[in-house]
Amino acid sequence: MTTVTDILGKTGVEPITMLTAYDAPGAEIADEAGVDVVLVGDSLGNAVLGHDSTLPVTVEETLSHTAAVARAVEDALVVADMPFLSFGVDDAESVRNAGRMLKEANADAVKLESGAHTVGLTERLVALGVPVMAHLGLTPQRVNQLGGYGRQGTDEGAAREIVDLARDHEEAGAFSLVLEHVPANLAAHVTAELDIPTIGIGAGPDCDGQVLVFHDVVGLSDWTPPFAKPFGDARGEMERAVGDYVAAVESGAFPAAEHSHVEEDLEHLY
Ligand code: KIV
Ligand code: NA
Repeated sequence: MTTVTDILGKTGVEPITMLTAYDAPGAEIADEAGVDVVLVGDSLGNAVLGHDSTLPVTVEETLSHTAAVARAVEDALVVADMPFLSFGVDDAESVRNAGRMLKEANADAVKLESGAHTVGLTERLVALGVPVMAHLGLTPQRVNQLGGYGRQGTDEGAAREIVDLARDHEEAGAFSLVLEHVPANLAAHVTAELDIPTIGIGAGPDCDGQVLVFHDVVGLSDWTPPFAKPFGDARGEMERAVGDYVAAVESGAFPAAEHSHVEEDLEHLY
């Protein structure tokens, strides 16, 4: 069993590996591969639920998928990604929603897309015993404000704001920080400034760890961001298998004798 203390202990010693998962088979595969942190990302919306953003993902959906992942994982730390507007609207509701991820779905921690508005909430959750992973840089729940999914922290002012917020969240008690789609040199600077681990996605090689979306890693996504890398062709293999199944039923090749059972006792049925 991996704890937030184990993750802090790996910081600067060896790279931290993190991967999303949304269901039992994905979580089993990640866990058995030795992934340190399994994130039930709100990328659930795009990767699994067919939405074109993460905004529609609900607390109930996150609970259900996190519970499935937590049932399948034996070793990794399980982190539930708090959906859009499940936090930040009202402090009591934010704490209750985050608490449900631990109480009902068996998550070990939650992740919050962070900003100036999450410093106090992070402090409160940590005080109550809910470990928090922060997330700065590109925060896709703000897509309507950002006007897209572009790189963040590209000018001096924006970069300083990320450095300051990173420090604020470390001080608030976050146990780690995701840095998404920021310049590699900014990520390297934040990593040097913080004691807690940075986990990068599209943030260069100098973070303490890396995270990607499961479907991007296995080659199941229909679109993959330029900073991700498919390490397989799961979609191609699934298409081949399903195509072969359809063809075998249509041709009568499936089911064959070995997939069927003839009960001798029924020989006088007609
Ligand atoms: O939702 C998600 O998958 C994420 C990771 C990309 C960090 O937030
Ligand atoms: Na997310």
